[in-house]
Amino acid sequence: MIFRHKFGKPLETGAAVNFDGVEIADDEAVEYFTVEKGGGIRFRRRLGEDTAVYGLGENVRGINKRGWRYVSYCSDDPMHTEDKQSLYGAHNFIVVDEEKPFGVFVDIPGRVAFDVCADKYDVLEIIAEDDNLYFYEITGDSISDIVRSFRAMIGKSYVPPLWAFGYQQCRWSYPTEDSVREVAREYKRAGIPIDAVYLDIDYMEQYKDFTVDKERFPDLKALAEEMKEEGVHLVPIIDAGVKIEKGYDVYEEGAANGYFCKDESGDDYVTAVWPGKTHFPDFLNTEARRWFGLKYKRLTDMGIDGFWNDMNEPAIFYSEKGLERVWTTLDAVKEQGNIGMSGFFAVRDAFGGLMNSERDYRAMYHNMDGETVCHHRVHNLYGYNMTRSAAEALDEIRPDERTLLFSRASYIGMHRYGGIWTGDNQSWWSHILMNLKMLPSLNMCGFLYTGADLGGFGGNTTRDLLLRWLALGIFTPLMRNHSALGTRNQECYRFENSDDFKGLISLRYRLIPYLYSEFNKSNERGDMMFRPLAFDYHGDKRARGVEDQLMLGGELMIAPVYEQNARGRYVYLPEDMLFVLFDGADRFEAKRLEKGDHYIEVGLNQVPVFIRRNRLLPLCRAAQTTSALDRNTLELIGWTNGAAEYELYTDDGISKPVKGKKLVRLRAENGSVGSDDDSIAVSDGGVIFE
Ligand code: GLC
Repeated sequence: MIFRHKFGKPLETGAAVNFDGVEIADDEAVEYFTVEKGGGIRFRRRLGEDTAVYGLGENVRGINKRGWRYVSYCSDDPMHTEDKQSLYGAHNFIVVDEEKPFGVFVDIPGRVAFDVCADKYDVLEIIAEDDNLYFYEITGDSISDIVRSFRAMIGKSYVPPLWAFGYQQCRWSYPTEDSVREVAREYKRAGIPIDAVYLDIDYMEQYKDFTVDKERFPDLKALAEEMKEEGVHLVPIIDAGVKIEKGYDVYEEGAANGYFCKDESGDDYVTAVWPGKTHFPDFLNTEARRWFGLKYKRLTDMGIDGFWNDMNEPAIFYSEKGLERVWTTLDAVKEQGNIGMSGFFAVRDAFGGLMNSERDYRAMYHNMDGETVCHHRVHNLYGYNMTRSAAEALDEIRPDERTLLFSRASYIGMHRYGGIWTGDNQSWWSHILMNLKMLPSLNMCGFLYTGADLGGFGGNTTRDLLLRWLALGIFTPLMRNHSALGTRNQECYRFENSDDFKGLISLRYRLIPYLYSEFNKSNERGDMMFRPLAFDYHGDKRARGVEDQLMLGGELMIAPVYEQNARGRYVYLPEDMLFVLFDGADRFEAKRLEKGDHYIEVGLNQVPVFIRRNRLLPLCRAAQTTSALDRNTLELIGWTNGAAEYELYTDDGISKPVKGKKLVRLRAENGSVGSDDDSIAVSDGGVIFE
């Protein structure tokens, strides 16, 4: 059951779309919190010592969010250290795991803080800056039940084409046609599967959206075609800021039609990003949104069928006013002659405060279809609506086919339009674990198509770090290796013994029937593809404390190794399971393990998977690209003491609305395996019949 309370006059975010089973009250009588008003609203609740709090999507720290303060305010910050409070997404949904669990969704497009027992060890406080919001309280029998109700209310998630489940290679940047060709060629030469190569900002002419640099990419259309013949898709980046340049049509049209955000005096707001001075399209305006979205057609006309939307918090390097403030400070300090402590810090802070400054967000305005609204109040809707702009236009431009689309900034609601990647992480071991911990929280908030920059974006990766990270990445729907300008090149074929990489990534391709099934079934049923053990084994106190293993779909538990030089790890099994250790893609050893603690050894080229009792894992044969995958010939592995079944979801992988969709039952019973659909052939890949 969901109860919606209304405070003041909330701005409509579009996060909730289905109000069946939602009791809508215009009152402020929330049940689970005490409410304090005055300069915003504070919702306060005392929590029991063992109460865990889950959710908040893209964030630092634990799966159980207790013990820190998180702030929803989409932030372009590449240093995802523990002391941070905001990352790129703003996902205001939590579940409080008390004796009678309940969920809360705070629907407000501006800043809101969740102090989860950080200030006071037993107090959960939600602090909204603005006193206009919707406050949803969600009840249910279990955490999964509450999540399901919430997900039903916010609507189904974006579904990408099947090829977007293949391995993808990115780099800032592959700056020429030949460098793109080389990546595709070298992957193929090494026998490592690949489905996409990315085009980062350097494919554009001076970082101008919807342009292509003619010298470095003389014929993008021909290149896209040539790559597609190899089964490789090109995925260009689109940035939020539009370069101010006379004669550049996107700038000219935006300015002439009033499609850009404004400053206090009503002029087009000037900020700077990659191209220098830019304007931001007003994605909160229906006409502007449509106008910008239809520009993607320039690239789809060249055969492009995937995009990533970036810098859409929006990231601001500086504003004109901010820069003026810096010059004023510098002049004043310079006059002091001998620069002492205060002068030195004044200079440092003046520069440090230039980027992504709240002052700039407060000085920017939207035309929300007739209503002028300060950006700061609706900050968290910007990236969301940039992606909505693309998705809605792509529905018109490519109505019959799914397009790959994901964003950096997001708010709940955007999950219907695209996926997200989790931004600029680092080549740090701790970020493997952070990647794992975010997955269930993101799923709770509707973000199913998601993944991290594998190998780490900033800093130099190492062979072992990349291998260990890939061994987690083979399970995430978006599996993309990406790295920053100036860092070590981290394409898999560059490292010694590339067969280890080939093995891991080929295993990913073997898992695609399972991952695609679990993704789609989770979406249709409002379930989470990745769940903390606490959700499935709630009565088990040990399981409730596990923060480095996850349930994946209905059959698997994953437990990657994430520490430098570790040759294995401890795993907690909440029930008896079949431990399958893949050694590359084709070899594995399987062993029954009892509920309890175990130490497992895992080599750098190995992947541990745990299959629940009486469940089956379907695998297909690996292929160089998803287009060459035979999803109709499957092997089953698992363990049964009677009869086990797997419900396979399949469709044609590309059409929209989905065609060829079916659920097929695969079974293992009395020593043999079978399928209830003649077009899906199954064989026994190693089922243990007790
Ligand atoms: C931002 C993105 C990153 C990209 C870079 C250059 O930092 O998060 O993925 O490579 O911009 O476009």
